[in-house]
Amino acid sequence: MSSYKDTSAWLKTKLPKQPQIAVILGTGLSNMAEVFPLLYSIPYNQIPGFVQSTAPTHKGNLLLCEVEGIPVIFLQGRFHYYEGYSMQEVVFPVRVLSALGIKVLIVTNASGSLRKELEPGTIVQLQDHINFMGTNPLIGMNDDDLGERFPSMNKVYDPELCLLADKVAFDLGIKTAKGVYIAVTGPSLETKAECSAFASWGADLVGMSTVPEVITARHSGLKVLAYSIVTNYSNLFHNLAHSQEEIQRIANISGKQLQKLIAELILRLTRTFSLTS
Ligand code: HPA
Repeated sequence: MSSYKDTSAWLKTKLPKQPQIAVILGTGLSNMAEVFPLLYSIPYNQIPGFVQSTAPTHKGNLLLCEVEGIPVIFLQGRFHYYEGYSMQEVVFPVRVLSALGIKVLIVTNASGSLRKELEPGTIVQLQDHINFMGTNPLIGMNDDDLGERFPSMNKVYDPELCLLADKVAFDLGIKTAKGVYIAVTGPSLETKAECSAFASWGADLVGMSTVPEVITARHSGLKVLAYSIVTNYSNLFHNLAHSQEEIQRIANISGKQLQKLIAELILRLTRTFSLTS
């Protein structure tokens, strides 16, 4: 397997501009990047060290786009632990981003709601998370070039970024909620008993991604902001099977709003937030 440093050095020679912001696009959200002028695009299968995205709607491309003149990397799709990849493979793209000089990582996903008020379609800004995957991407020898052995996960979602994003959402009239995300491995969906346990622990949303990427990003000092689109109620509230089509349909609709929010946020970020700090 190629090292993240080799892959990053290789990508640097291809990218026409040096980005400082990256966005990971989750289930049903890949299209979000396609409205922005494209500077460069490469399928994951041509990037050394990247595995294949097998999840539905995860397109598997790295794009460099210009958002209002600012170069931004979009990862169209991610790797999940449930696909059978190792944690090292799942978080490899984040390590490459960090070596590329990315300072701010915006992560998106789709999730199931554990709270009645968080209806399908709601855009939720993550305030915190619970890692219930039973593993951690930082297990193994610590790479001191990336970060310390025991990185803090206090204020894991950057408070300043969250506040700025709230202001942007308010100005655009986009309604967002706040919540705590619990990550499970999947691919089986949660039982009712699991959902009530998660809700009693303080989780508002459940999903199968994001947390490994966020832990890895924080390990190497990236500032992280994350949004989840509630695509379904968890089975705390019903006994129906989840329809993948319905999940994608809802992610697509709310994804359009989230896209506006992220585009405006990127613009304001470069004006008000010291990306070089
Ligand atoms: N559970 C886990 N992951 C999910 C869900 C869910 O209900 N919805 C979208 N991703």
